Formats: sequence, C-alpha cells, structure tokens
Amino acid sequence: MLNKKNAVTMEKIVSLCKRRGFIFPGSEIYGGLANAWDYGPYGAELKNNIKQRWWRKFVEEREDMVGLDAAIIMNPETWKASGHLDNFSDPLAECQKCKSRYRTDQLIDAKICPNCGGEMSAPRQFNLMFKTFIGPAEESANVAYLRPETAQGIFVNFKNVLDTMRPKLPFGIGQIGKAFRNEITPGNFVFRTREFEQMEIEYFIAMPKKDKDWQAVFESWRKEMLVWMKELGLDVKNNVHELNVPDGERAHYSKKTIDFEYDFPFGKKELYGLAYRTDYDLKQHAKLSGIDLTCADEAGNKFTPHVIEPSLGVERTVLAVLCAAYNEEKVKEETRTVMKFPHWLAPVKIAVFPLLKNKPELVKKAKAVFDALKKDYICEFDDNGNIGKRYRRQDEIGTPFCLTVDFDTLEKGDVTVRDRDTMKQERVKIEELGEYFEEKLK
Ligand code: GAP
Repeated sequence: MLNKKNAVTMEKIVSLCKRRGFIFPGSEIYGGLANAWDYGPYGAELKNNIKQRWWRKFVEEREDMVGLDAAIIMNPETWKASGHLDNFSDPLAECQKCKSRYRTDQLIDAKICPNCGGEMSAPRQFNLMFKTFIGPAEESANVAYLRPETAQGIFVNFKNVLDTMRPKLPFGIGQIGKAFRNEITPGNFVFRTREFEQMEIEYFIAMPKKDKDWQAVFESWRKEMLVWMKELGLDVKNNVHELNVPDGERAHYSKKTIDFEYDFPFGKKELYGLAYRTDYDLKQHAKLSGIDLTCADEAGNKFTPHVIEPSLGVERTVLAVLCAAYNEEKVKEETRTVMKFPHWLAPVKIAVFPLLKNKPELVKKAKAVFDALKKDYICEFDDNGNIGKRYRRQDEIGTPFCLTVDFDTLEKGDVTVRDRDTMKQERVKIEELGEYFEEKLK
C-alpha cells in the first residue's frame, strides 16, 4: 500500500534501513529472529535524538515534571495490583489445519483461518506478559515478569518521589525504557515487536470535583502531543487522526483514551495513546501494598491523585519519522531518494568531503574543517567515490548539509556548502562556518 503523499512503501523503508545502516534484522548471522530488529549506527543516532529531545522537552524544560528510571523486573505483586495478570491478554485461536495462530479480534471472521481457510479453534485469553524466573530454581514461587509498560515503575515510586522531591500537584513523572509484550501477531517491521521502548508520562492531578477538571488537563496534553508530532516532521493535519476509543475497547484502567493514529504505508494505525487512568493504579497499589499513596489538600483532607497518561512508543516514532521523511525526486534522468528529517532529528548533521581523495592538500584541509566542526555537530568525513555519489549517500541518510573542500578553498579559504532539500550550493568562508551552522542548525 502507498502513502499518497510521498509514495513510500514498507519495502522501500525496510530496504533503505538495511542498506544505509538504520535498522538490521535481529541476530541476522543466525538466520534472524522473527520480528526482532537491531538498530545500526544511524538508527541508534535517530532513536537517541528522539529520546533526548522528548526528555529535554517533557522532563527538563518543565517545572512540573521530574524523571525516573525504574527497574524492568518488578515485584510480581505489581502486576497483580495493576490488573495486568488478570486483564492484559488478547484472544488467541489456532487454525485446526495449518496451525497458524491469530488474534481473533483482528480477524474479519474469527472462525476461518486467513492463511488456509481452515477452521479456527475457539479463542482463549492469552496473557501478553513475558514470564521469567528469579534465581536458579524455575519454581512458581520465583516467577517474575518483564514489564509490559513502563508506567507501573512510576506508580510504585510515587511515594518516593513525593517524599524526596516534595512536588505540588499537578505534577508529572516521565520515564523512558524498555517494555516487553509477547505479542501474538507482531509485524509490520518495527511497528509491533515483542521488545520495544516507551516514553511515558504519568501526570498526577488533584481529585477532580467535576469532569471538567480532568478534561482540561487531558486537553492540554492532547495539544502537547500534537505539537510534538509536528516537531517530528509529521504532517499532522493530513496524516494524524484521533480516535476516541469507545467503551468496551479501552484498557481496563482507562475512563477515556484517545489513540493518535498515523497513516503508515500499511494503513492507519495507532502511533501514541493518551489515557485518563483515574486513581485506579495508585488505589490498587495502596490496597495491595498497604502503603498510603494519598496526598492531602490544604484543609488536610486525604485523597488519591488521578492520572493523565501520554504514552509514546519509541520505535513507532522512528517508523513514522522514516515514512514522513522519505522522498523520491526526479533530478535530471535520475531519481534521488532523500530523507528530509527535521534537522534536529538527522543522524548526521554535516558531511565533509575533500573534492579528490588523492590530493593530500585537499584531504588535509578537509580533515581540519571536519575536526573543528565535529566538536559541535555529529559530522561524517567521506572521501569515497565521486561527489555526486557522496551526495546521494548523504541524501539517503538525511544529512542536512554537505561541505566540499576544493582547490579554490586552498586559495580563497572558502568551501561549498550544499543544502539537502534545495540542493543549492553556496560558498562560505571557513572562519564563518561556526556562525553559519549555528544559524542553520540551531
Ligand atoms: N502505559 C500505557 C500503555 O502502555 P499502550 O497503548 O498499550 O498503552 C503505548 O502502549 C504505546 O506503546 C503505543 O501507543 C505504542 O506507541 C507503543 N507500543 C505498544 N505496544 C507496542 C509493540 N508491541 N511494539 C511497539 N510499540 C508498541
């Protein structure tokens, strides 16, 4: 299926990611592992840019937020309290004929196998949490789970944060970290995997007296999320859609959920979620742990805070950003593939080329320029192949600027800077490069 805007297909994205060092099939030398993916040098950089910007914007730049980094393996009581042991499951059925397994809520006809047309078994609830054992003995007493959401690490540390940071409501706790789900039908590249990362905020508010009280906070986070998606370079107006998740389809803890759906090449699918989790989680943890997780109002009355939760997947962000940035353009007789990432997202900001590899004076000068710029920006030095080829390579990884040192540089002290998007070139004095890029890449 094609995304109409820029003709991107999943085949093209997967192929570019492999070819250019963004994302590789996991454990490839052993034949891979289905639906596991490894991030290559540019993919790791892209992912880090996303996570760092999210942390800066939503944790460091806000006075009403603090950060946290909780353990992945938590006391199993956590999952009893949160309801994940009882409720975090999908309906699973198996084809009687070809033995394929499916989530029946995703089938058009839950009785017929979409693979071979055989008869499907009756569905059973399959819990999505990854089970493991703590210590050497694999006994039920030692069972633990890999967290299926980062959120619970925040709830169980609510009191620690209150006691140490003394924040005033409303305030939020943000966290970035791995989550694990034994998905029945992972797929669509990094869209649905069993191991992924979340960037989550639990934003605690006083007990709402009226619906309007929590709705106002929910609305402000809805807007924040849209601003974030714009910053990522997504065409929010045309490619992002909000789905108000109906009763009966929301997670067990949610009174209201909006799914932000994105037009991926394989269809309109959930990118992020925003949920009103009420006081469900804190109350559950207080009940099971016996620890007081309330706050007091000015009159000293105790109450359990309510929670608004913006929940973002890192890998889905990567995929949406790759799809949005992908462009094919006709340049003379050729087609150039160019990743038009917003500058802050681009894995490499500046590529530095000596015009010719076999001219030591050009290489030496280019190296000096590269060494100076790499103190402030992620730069790449490339002296391989002709300049046209080097431009194409940098276009494919989305490098905003390419800088060439040529014979004029040696005489006049200026270089050619080429803009990724316009392909326009201009001469810039070496001593002015610092100011030039500060202006362009700030
Ligand atoms: N704490 C709330 C929560 O976990 P969710 O809708 O189940 O809610 C939040 O997940 C986000 O995590 C999703 O919107 C998506 O971005 C990401 N996500 C969930 N499952 C995923 C998976 N199997 N693979 C990749 N990302 C996933």
